[in-house]
Amino acid sequence: MADRPIIFSGIQPTGRKHLGIFIGAIRQYVEGQDRGEPAIYCVVDLHSISVPYEPADLRERVLDTAAILLAAGLDPERCVFFRQSDVRQHSELTWLLSAVTSHGDLDRMTQFKEKTGSARELASAALFYYPVLMAADVLAYRATEVPVGDDQRQHVELMREIARRFNGRFGAEGEDTLVVPELVVPAVGARIMDLQEPERKMSTTGGTEQGTVLVLDDEKTIRKKVGSAVTDSGREVRAAADKPGVTNLIDILAVARGVGRPEIEAEFADAGYGDFKKAVADGVVELLGPVRERYAELRPDEAALEATLEAGAAKARAIAEPVLEDVRRVMGFG
Ligand code: TYM
Repeated sequence: MADRPIIFSGIQPTGRKHLGIFIGAIRQYVEGQDRGEPAIYCVVDLHSISVPYEPADLRERVLDTAAILLAAGLDPERCVFFRQSDVRQHSELTWLLSAVTSHGDLDRMTQFKEKTGSARELASAALFYYPVLMAADVLAYRATEVPVGDDQRQHVELMREIARRFNGRFGAEGEDTLVVPELVVPAVGARIMDLQEPERKMSTTGGTEQGTVLVLDDEKTIRKKVGSAVTDSGREVRAAADKPGVTNLIDILAVARGVGRPEIEAEFADAGYGDFKKAVADGVVELLGPVRERYAELRPDEAALEATLEAGAAKARAIAEPVLEDVRRVMGFG
């Protein structure tokens, strides 16, 4: 099966995963398990030290995230699922890739600018360097596809550039050492917006509390948040640039039902916003309810979660180490 993609994606360790991450990323991970050979997913705990954090909390948040992904349908038998810091090759490759990454590349990253604002001088070097670690995550596996939400576009563009430059600079044997991966964003739901401020993406750090549906929210909370979502003064359930709130709800319901925008627009052509929002809330409850229930079963067994992550790390190392051996060799080490 030479044509099957090698899929890689990463997710930050927090217990506060929201509907945007679920729709933009986690849904794609689950689907990728049957296409990828292999599909590799990683909880990126090394990335989380780029902002202030509590060491004692970090392990808990990794386990929260692992349990959410398993509850959502990741199956360790059908994918490689592990904790980033368990696989040292990520850190090593980060340093090696810095030879072909310029300061200017990192300086252009909009996420860094958005996250730091006027406090740039105080930001950690790790936050500035974050995209290089992300490139190493993917390139260490010679992954061909990177499923992410729209906000990671620029980071994936940079990792593609880093891979090209590496191959150009160290390709003396006429063979490419690294693979240039493809960005994969979902056709619908690549950018789920805050329900209260639909011109901003849904986010637990930059969004509103009421406008952010968490994967682990109970049914009552979900209904309240969707019910109070901002729409507009019109009446039509139609996706349009001047109707960001309604468009966002259409996308959410389309994903929950597994259909496209036109089907939702047709179904609600004669409905008011009240009935439409009720249907969206039903859809989200159906989408997330089973995940919350399964999470409650999985999360308490920390030993089992640790064992799953460790077994995944062993599989990951076995894939990444031969790549690192090639990288070290062409760079003149060892
Ligand atoms: P993170 O943990 O912030 O987000 C995880 C994934 O969720 C997507 N996402 C969204 N999709 C749609 N609508 C939204 N409102 C929304 N918010 C988040 C993100 O695009 C992401 O795919 N840097 C990455 C983690 C990472 C990574 C990697 C990803 C580290 N190494 C290697 C791919 C490959 C991040 O912070 O994701």
